[in-house]
Amino acid sequence: ARAAAGGVPAAVPALPEARSGERLSVVYGSQTGNAKRLAEQLAAQAEQAGLAVRLLRADAYPTRELKDERLLYVVISTQGDGDPPDDARALVDYIAGKRAPELKQLRYAVLGLGDSSYPQFCAIGQKLDARLAELGATRLVDRADADLDIDSVAGPWLQQALGAAKDALKPSAPLATVTPLRPLPTAPAHGRDAPFAAELLVNQRLTVRGSAKDVRHIELSLEGSGLSYQPGDALGLWPRNPPALVESVLRALELDGEAEVEHGGQRLPLRQWLGEKRELTRLARPFVASHAAHARSDELNRLLAPDNAPALTQLLADAQVIDLLQRYDGAWSGEELVAALRPLTPRLYSIASSQKLVGDEAHLTVAHVEYASEHGTRWGAASHLLAAAEEGARLPVYIEANERFRLPRDGARDVIMIGPGTGVAPFRGFVQERAADGASGRNWLLFGNPHFRSDFLYQTEWQAALKSGQLHRLDLAFSRDQIRKIYVQDRLRQAGRDLYDWLEGGAHLYVCGDATRMARDVHAALRDAVIENGGKNAEDAEDYLSTLQQQGRYARDVY
Ligand code: 2AM
Repeated sequence: ARAAAGGVPAAVPALPEARSGERLSVVYGSQTGNAKRLAEQLAAQAEQAGLAVRLLRADAYPTRELKDERLLYVVISTQGDGDPPDDARALVDYIAGKRAPELKQLRYAVLGLGDSSYPQFCAIGQKLDARLAELGATRLVDRADADLDIDSVAGPWLQQALGAAKDALKPSAPLATVTPLRPLPTAPAHGRDAPFAAELLVNQRLTVRGSAKDVRHIELSLEGSGLSYQPGDALGLWPRNPPALVESVLRALELDGEAEVEHGGQRLPLRQWLGEKRELTRLARPFVASHAAHARSDELNRLLAPDNAPALTQLLADAQVIDLLQRYDGAWSGEELVAALRPLTPRLYSIASSQKLVGDEAHLTVAHVEYASEHGTRWGAASHLLAAAEEGARLPVYIEANERFRLPRDGARDVIMIGPGTGVAPFRGFVQERAADGASGRNWLLFGNPHFRSDFLYQTEWQAALKSGQLHRLDLAFSRDQIRKIYVQDRLRQAGRDLYDWLEGGAHLYVCGDATRMARDVHAALRDAVIENGGKNAEDAEDYLSTLQQQGRYARDVY
């Protein structure tokens, strides 16, 4: 039940006889697949309860039908800096905008997803929820805002929403005669909640000594897992916290790692809770607030005041749990600590290989997050687990499909791939796949990193691909090899004419990497290239890019 390559919207039609008054519409906006997973779960359960349901990705929602919609559930995530997922941009703009109709006939509910490390936590869900009410719609179920440990909040919300939908739409036919809209996809044996223990085959440093970065090429074996992937998909990895970090936390709080702690019906030694079950490397506002109380710290409380938002944002981005514990003395019991810390959640890495070339392997390109702090080295949980792992180690993984980041089905189409830093990962898979398919379209890669000499990831592979005709154009932006920084978007601007010609010729465009700065700057460069070479004004150029996005010809995998 995958959406077709090329971004054909994933829409499932409702039963033909179900009119809007008798039907539940479940709409999702999803960047990494979590909102989609939950929306699918909700739709499947509603369907099993005999309700007429339609499940739509936000960019497939026909906005003209909104004014007749009677029952609408929205599951939507918020990206880091308060943005909607790419697939929901147009719908969110429409509902928030002046053209939105009055919605007195509508009953609705919103489930928001987000990451409380960011100040704009679940902002899009909140905005939609408020706006639908403002348009006259009736909130059937209160909104819930789910953090990274999604299911603890989403689970109860789904149950409540399902119950409310059943009350609102009595099943129109006896259960036995309801034809399922779509068979439930048969679940693979391994997934998010039942990861596969993949063997590490290769762990190799890509950046040369002297580089400020430690980027690894990782190869994992999926042999025997039943897992498969397509280029563009991500690998989910369940991290563990570095043992040294766990010990530091225990020491800072003078807690006994062997002491058994009970939480949520589970009894484990505190050391295991901290190592395997709780986030230590990511700091979120609620924990800062708890620790302010435990430490009776005026300084922390001031930081939490609304007028200090930028300082708090900075702290959440730069500090880990341990930094807070070491800077502000406060007493915690093991039970309190386990309850206050967020559950550990998997990390997603764009897969850097094609199964047509590597078979049962999955390759990753991983930046080892490592930096010095006043109290010693700090690491990212998953990247350190990978970087420190030796060949033969087993790591818990699963596949997270990314249907919005797919090669064109038509191999004759050209592709333009913009992937600075580790954003290059999926494009290694794309080029491998296109070569294996014998695709006739051209492949154009734009890559950037600090230095040619130390940071040219997969240099020999790209050069070999150019030589063999598997890569047709490679534009490089080594930002720090000259006095003035040069970024991929500068190369895009220089190549504006060619870029526009490729797009006019039907090319598909992909951007992977940093969301907040790079993807935004690249978007501006694309717009300018369309203005300059397409003879368009700014607004028409934005429309041009939106149309590409809707056609699945401008896709982003940014984080
Ligand atoms: P810098 O670190 O020298 O500023 C991968 O991280 C590459 O992306 C690096 O060369 C980095 O350059 C560059 N980079 C930093 N900010 C960027 C931005 N806003 N747009 C594009 N590339 C950027």
